[in-house]
Amino acid sequence: MNEEIGNRKKEHIELCLTDKVAFKLKCNGFENYDFIHYAPTEIIMDEIDLSLKFLSKKIAYPFLISCMTGGTDEASNINLKLASAAESLKIPLGLGSLRYMLDTDKFDSALSEIRETAPSVPILGNIGAAQILEDKNIRRFNELIKIADLDSFVVHLNPLQELLQPEGDTDFKGLRKALRLLVKELHVPLIVKEVGSGISKKAAEELLYIGVKGIDVAGAGGTSWAGVEILRARNESDPSANAFWDWGLPTSYCIRKITPLKKDYKFSLIASGGITTGFEIAKALALGADLTAAARPIIKQLYNGGVPAVFTWVHDHFSTLKKIMYLTGSQNLKDFDSTKLTLRKNLW
Ligand SMILES: Cc1cc2nc3c(=O)[nH]c(=O)nc-3n(C[C@H](O)[C@H](O)[C@H](O)COP(=O)(O)O)c2cc1C
Repeated sequence: MNEEIGNRKKEHIELCLTDKVAFKLKCNGFENYDFIHYAPTEIIMDEIDLSLKFLSKKIAYPFLISCMTGGTDEASNINLKLASAAESLKIPLGLGSLRYMLDTDKFDSALSEIRETAPSVPILGNIGAAQILEDKNIRRFNELIKIADLDSFVVHLNPLQELLQPEGDTDFKGLRKALRLLVKELHVPLIVKEVGSGISKKAAEELLYIGVKGIDVAGAGGTSWAGVEILRARNESDPSANAFWDWGLPTSYCIRKITPLKKDYKFSLIASGGITTGFEIAKALALGADLTAAARPIIKQLYNGGVPAVFTWVHDHFSTLKKIMYLTGSQNLKDFDSTKLTLRKNLW
């Protein structure tokens, strides 16, 4: 079983290092927005502070390294390197699915090594929806939380990916009941994410009502997990699979629709799915996201230039954000809201 998961994860990484798995026609929607230039700016660049609290810890930037991979020696190595990048940047790290650790304690020491490498930042565990349907796993989730002193546990919802995976699991009956139980039993706050198809307002509202404390929209416009599975199954000539390559709600749409729920619920809203530039980070934050996140852009940096390349990527993008804040007259993240944005079509 673990060998099968390991092979699948290896194929996922190999495909995600190429751009073949990007959405083909759909974008994340941020291209529809532009910033409103504010000429009489009096902002002091050096006084722009991007730090904030996330999961009760102070972090330097509103950015999370998205949950990626696990289950192979290479994946452990990747997670250790990402932990080192997260610690030096003072940003949170999402781990890939811990499914391979459910039935064995073989990897427990590798998990605690990740915490030793990143002692001061929030680290988030991760598991698929299919694995929470079995009540017996909750005990093990809490053990894993203890081993790595995790700050949150993330459940990923990936119905489209499972639908297109030859070995996929499409029976999620009892999912909301299982999430409710997790909220009650887990020793840390629960976050729910997608993997590239987005979270609608209705879905977010249901999740928040259950007691979920964070939503990572992982919207359309970045990595297409339908694309990953189609390429993995060498199914490119199957029109019934291909039709779903671009399925999903664009990231900007999800953020815009879910932000108003902050009036009724206290939660962290995370924008991911095709976040590749400082401008996209800025637009996501201005639209209402508390944090931004990226997966494939980060792993590509890691493979091409190691931890220093990840450091530079994040650092440069947040330097761009500061410039945008200066030009829009925003001294801090609180001031940097949707009044700083306009729809591009309104400019002409
Ligand atoms: C190599 C790789 C492995 C991933 N593994 C996981 C995983 O184990 N659990 C999960 O929730 N998401 C996983 N994801 C999905 C990402 O967390 C993210 O939601 C998705 O790729 C969209 O973000 P992006 O456009 O920045 O890549 C993975 C992504 C990549 C690139």
